[in-house]
Amino acid sequence: MEFSGSPARQGEARLSGFRPGGRSLGEALDSLLLRERLDKPELLDSEAVDGETLKRSYRELQRLHLWLGNTAAILDRLRAGGQRLKVLDIGCAQGALLAVIRERLGHEGIGFDLRSMPVDASIPIVEGNAVTDALPRADVALSVVMAHHLDRRELKAMIVNVSRSADRLILLDLVRHRVPLTLFRLFVAPLLSRINALDGATSIRRAFTRVELGAIFAEAIKESGRPVERLTHHVATLWTRQIVDVQWGKRTER
Ligand SMILES: C[S@@+](CC[C@H](N)C(=O)[O-])C[C@H]1O[C@@H](n2cnc3c(N)ncnc32)[C@H](O)[C@@H]1O
Repeated sequence: MEFSGSPARQGEARLSGFRPGGRSLGEALDSLLLRERLDKPELLDSEAVDGETLKRSYRELQRLHLWLGNTAAILDRLRAGGQRLKVLDIGCAQGALLAVIRERLGHEGIGFDLRSMPVDASIPIVEGNAVTDALPRADVALSVVMAHHLDRRELKAMIVNVSRSADRLILLDLVRHRVPLTLFRLFVAPLLSRINALDGATSIRRAFTRVELGAIFAEAIKESGRPVERLTHHVATLWTRQIVDVQWGKRTER
């Protein structure tokens, strides 16, 4: 804890100058109540993390997705329709989800990530920034626990970017809420490696609330100029995940 400013005169309340961790009391309270997104990078995003640790951590994350039902939630949405699809996974890490999709549903996959580290050489991964770089063409784009890595403006730009290269986006992410944060700390973090335990809590605190994510999609869709055929936004019980599923219609000439 840190106090800033000149010493208080005797009897004078100094709450406004109280700066725990270098922040004002108001900022600290916002952070405690999760009113504001945490502005802190995750450990796995650091250049300093070696390749072996990255691979091990992403494998553990993949097992966690299976256990929490995130993988099943994505497979269920891709199953409907029956036709073969080209699936683009944005922020795919090692491309492990695409391997599961291919094995279970037979869909062809392509990954896209800031860093390429394929777990399986038969899953192609394009390296780039999904906010600013052109994305490969696909029928469906996925984005799984990647959105909270972006700020509001970047996420909006990414959704507009996706609308130019895919007809559908299924975005799954965490929800910034006390309940999943408490459940994660009590029941999940103790079972994980230290790096994923710390990053998991940071991720929930960096995530968008339901209202924030809904507003970002509304702005992006308006900006994309592409009509939307169907949009659903579903928040799971106990706020463990939220999924926005957008199906765009035909492009309008501009
Ligand atoms: C928490 S990991 C999630 C990995 C995987 N989707 C999963 O669920 O296991 C987030 C991933 O998003 C990637 N990422 C973050 N920002 C990105 C961006 N602007 N463009 C592309 N990939 C990005 C990171 O490199 C990382 O691999």
